[in-house]
Amino acid sequence: QELQLNLEQIEKGGYEHFMLKEIYEQPSAILDTFRGRLLSNEAIIKMVGVEDNMKKFLNANRIIIVACGTSWHAGLVAEYIFEDLARIPVEVEYASEFRYRNPIINENDVVIAISQSGETADTLAAIKLAKSKGAFVFGVCNVVGSSIARETHAGAYTHAGPEIGVASTKAFTTQITVLTLIALRLARAKGTISSSDYRMHLLELELIPEKVKTALESDAYVKTVAAIYKDAKNFLYLGRGYNFPVALEGALKLKEISYIHAEGYPAAEMKHGPIALIDENMPIVVIATKKGHYEKVVSNIQEIKSRSGKIIGIVTVGDEQVKNLADHVIEVPETIESLTPLLTTIPLQLLSYHIALMLGKNVDQPRNLAKAVTVE
Ligand code: G6P
Repeated sequence: QELQLNLEQIEKGGYEHFMLKEIYEQPSAILDTFRGRLLSNEAIIKMVGVEDNMKKFLNANRIIIVACGTSWHAGLVAEYIFEDLARIPVEVEYASEFRYRNPIINENDVVIAISQSGETADTLAAIKLAKSKGAFVFGVCNVVGSSIARETHAGAYTHAGPEIGVASTKAFTTQITVLTLIALRLARAKGTISSSDYRMHLLELELIPEKVKTALESDAYVKTVAAIYKDAKNFLYLGRGYNFPVALEGALKLKEISYIHAEGYPAAEMKHGPIALIDENMPIVVIATKKGHYEKVVSNIQEIKSRSGKIIGIVTVGDEQVKNLADHVIEVPETIESLTPLLTTIPLQLLSYHIALMLGKNVDQPRNLAKAVTVE
């Protein structure tokens, strides 16, 4: 048993929990995921699975993304990236709904299945259904040789390395990385992005691992924020555009490991319901980075403030406007809008980690949850 314990300590690499280790591995996991694929000097993205099937992607009427849980949130981020950059219509589906809905799908559709484990039963069944209707199915998996990796026609692996913590962290950011590479490659092939814009995206993506490192420096401050709100019964997470899925993912992380009820919402939808919940006991995490609907999010923050909600703003470094309104601000480095999810996610992961830990919860193995859900 002693040997077992020591082995686990070695595996945790000096971190108290797998989740924290995996949060901190993100700079290298993202780098490993684009290494050899993103050749910024030559302004090339090389992904065999995409190149070999370029015709299918370019002729696709639409892309349907199927996934569950955190992978579904990565799919939502991808929807913005694909539509914005490559101008391909995208639908993002819960695999469990898609498979039972008699979906309209044919050989002109491309289905992208996203799965960390590559073993999620609903996602696997959705793939089989799409294949039976003639669609081309592309997998984005982390586990090499997994069922989904084998069942799909082609794919691109995330190179996150093993993810042990049940709450997904580095799988999410590496999935977004792979999907961004694919979207950029397709945008280039379709001519929907200018060569200067394309180069700029590649250069910015290359800077992300360092910027994630900087974002991780907020850890100590996030911990003090966690201590203030750990006893809250409910949390609201708000974001717009590219950061709306990040709000969903932030809320999911908190639910999963701290068992605090949390909901993610598009910031503008707040007035259609969640605003009724706001009072002085309600912490609201608002993603308000400079790029992307900033002014609109600021006015949402003002609405929260006038109802005495407690505001935790995730802002671009140097921000003044939100700082003046919010109770706390957590800074992330500046980047282009499409890449902000890779940075804004970091403090949300840390916030859920610290709250769960302070509440004495098992962060790596939360109750009732499994790392891979192989039953429906
Ligand atoms: C489970 C895990 C989540 C994960 C989801 C989808 O619910 O606890 O962390 O996001 O399954 O898993 P997959 O392996 O398909 O990405």
